[in-house]
Parts: sequence; structure tokens; C-alpha cells
Amino acid sequence: MAYDFDVVIDRRNTNATKLQKYAGSDILPFWIADMDFAVPDFILEPLRERLDHPIIGYTKKPDSLTHAFQRWLAHHYGWQVPEDWIVWLPGVVPGLNMAVNMLGSDEQILVPTPIYYPFLDLQENTGRRQVAVPLAFNDGLWSMDLTAMADATTDRVKLVCIANPQNPTGRCYSLAELQALGEFLERHDLLLVSDEIHCQLILDKDKHHLPIAHAVPEIAHRTVSLFAATKTYNIPGLGCAAAVVPDPDLRARFLATRGDLVVGPGPLNYIASEAAFNDRSDWVPQLQATLRRNHDLLKAVAGERMTRMEATYLAWIRIDDLQLNDVDGHFESHGLGLSNGAPFGHEGYVRFNFASPKPVLEEGLQRLVHSLKRS
Ligand SMILES: Cc1ncc(COP(=O)(O)O)c(C=O)c1O
Repeated sequence: MAYDFDVVIDRRNTNATKLQKYAGSDILPFWIADMDFAVPDFILEPLRERLDHPIIGYTKKPDSLTHAFQRWLAHHYGWQVPEDWIVWLPGVVPGLNMAVNMLGSDEQILVPTPIYYPFLDLQENTGRRQVAVPLAFNDGLWSMDLTAMADATTDRVKLVCIANPQNPTGRCYSLAELQALGEFLERHDLLLVSDEIHCQLILDKDKHHLPIAHAVPEIAHRTVSLFAATKTYNIPGLGCAAAVVPDPDLRARFLATRGDLVVGPGPLNYIASEAAFNDRSDWVPQLQATLRRNHDLLKAVAGERMTRMEATYLAWIRIDDLQLNDVDGHFESHGLGLSNGAPFGHEGYVRFNFASPKPVLEEGLQRLVHSLKRS
């Protein structure tokens, strides 16, 4: 079946966060990470079916969801994960916060930056100090700077927090990089939380996502891996995520941080994620092809400013030479709602979400041309 990702869908009157920010203006939103594409019917249908029942009460997690996730891990990565390693959560971000809360109050986290901004909120949320270490930028690619990370690792640092694929630089780390990170973790006796929510959004045809706890099994016992189908299938409004924690002691520590603060996902959330994990159609390859095309359209305008990316639909674009006092205001004055790089830990960049139908993206790109001109 051919999916049409170029249909423009009116999202007004849905209270969509993406649009609400600029409600009443003609600013086109290319900021928050959801897509302007329709959720596929194989997810919408079971949701509709469930809504035929008039009661939506408290709902236990279905075993069928866990089994669908286990089969999905085996199918895509050859990773056999026993049921008891899996902890279901209402989102990846709660899982990140829970992982940091495993630490003692005077222990610290190490975060390579730039990174998805909730990673940089972890310090304030949890009271655990954060040590930010900039990624290295070599030959147009961002990578973890293990030398700088080693220099920053004191006795108090206990946990490294990464996103792979990386948001906002679009890196999909290679086996060699993950192995080097694994050696680093072992050398310094550190835990790892690896946010792999973008794992199916690989654009580079030569790259494959490698779940670190499977690709580098030596460090599985010190790793919390976070997965969700919500990004790939555009269902982030139905939050549902899975933590894979192979080590029983680490899992007990992780679970102990949940208390009654982190509730389970709701029944519709379970249904949507289960349908997504069961998907073996070519919806994802078709989505990837559309994202590749959109990437190329954006690259044609942003040129060298745009970081070479391997994954995600979030482009990281250098704008430091424009010397803007008000980055948001500048792009908004050109009718563009972008994410400012500063909350990701790097000023002088913006992040552009290019997961929009071609007509919308093309309008945005015309505006981008003007906004990137030096005055
Ligand atoms: C790297 C990364 N992690 C997590 C999330 C959000 O996860 P959740 O909505 O499950 O909390 C996003 C959303 O953009 C993301 O880019």
C-alpha cells in the first residue's frame, strides 16, 4: 500500500502544542518533534474499535503489548529480551528522570551536549548535579568526546545519559563508537541511560540502529535502555515507553524511583503502541523515504550550515554567523517557528523539524532562504 505523506492535514482545533505556540499568526511551526503526517490506519483502527466500548477505566498493561515489544526487538535487532527485563512507562522522559533518581543525592550525571533539552532539566528535576561535556565536531560529524568525558569524570559522576540516535545532531552511533563508550563506562564504573526513541528513524541507508545493551553486551548490566514507538508512528500524544533493564539489582533500583509518581500509560496508549510494535508493513520504509526527500530539500537551502545527519527528522543548523540578539524573534519575523539551540546546550544553532508535507515544507524553505541571509 502506498501512503501519501504529502497530504496537508489541518491540525487547528486539536490544541496541538506545535501549532498553539503560534496560534493567530501565520508562523509555520517546525519546532517540537511530532510529524504533520497521518497516523496509519493499522494503529487508528484498533483505537476506534476500543472506543466502541463506552467505559475507559483503569487498565492493566496487556501481556500482548509486552510480547509485541519482545518480538519487535527480536525482529529488528535480533535481541531476545525476557519479559522481566521490561518496565513500562508513560514516556521516555519519565524514564530518564527515574534513572537519575537512582543515584545518591551527592552523585552526579554526565551529559554529552547538545542534547534534547529534557536531559538538561534533569539536574533541576532531580537535584543531581549535571556535568555537561560538548560533543566533538570532526569532518562534519558530531561524536562523543571520550577524552573530554574522561577528564570530566570525577568520583562523584555515576551515570552517563545519551540519546542514540542523537537529538539534535542526528547521529546514529557506530558499533566502534558504542564499544568505545562501553569501555569508558567500564573503566570508570559508570551506569548508562540510553534513550533510543528515534531508533526507527534512520535516514542514512548505510546505517543501522544498534541498541547499545545488545551491541555491547559487556555493559548490559549497567544500562537502562529506553524505547518507544511514539516517535516513529507519530503517536506522542499517547505516551507509552519501555525501559529495558537486564540487571535485576539495577532494575529494582530503577523501579524503586517510580513510587506513585509515575503512573502507567492509559488503555488507548497501550493499544496504539502494541499495534505499532506489531507493524511489519512498509509504512516505516515509506516514511523514511519521505524524510530523506525532505532532508534533501532542506539541505539544498541550508547547505553547509546543516549538520550531516544519519537519523531523525530534526536538522541542526548553524546560525552563529548571523549574530542574532533574538534568535526566536528573528526566525518568527520570517514566519518560521524553529527550536532555538540554546536550551539544547549550544547557542548559535537552530533545530528544524522537517517532518511536514512537501507543500508546507516548501513554503517554510522559501522563508528560510530569506531568514539565513546575512544583513
Ligand atoms: C531524544 C528524545 N527522547 C524523548 C523524547 C520524548 O519522549 P516521551 O514523549 O516518550 O517522553 C523525545 C521527543 O522529541 C526525544 O527527541
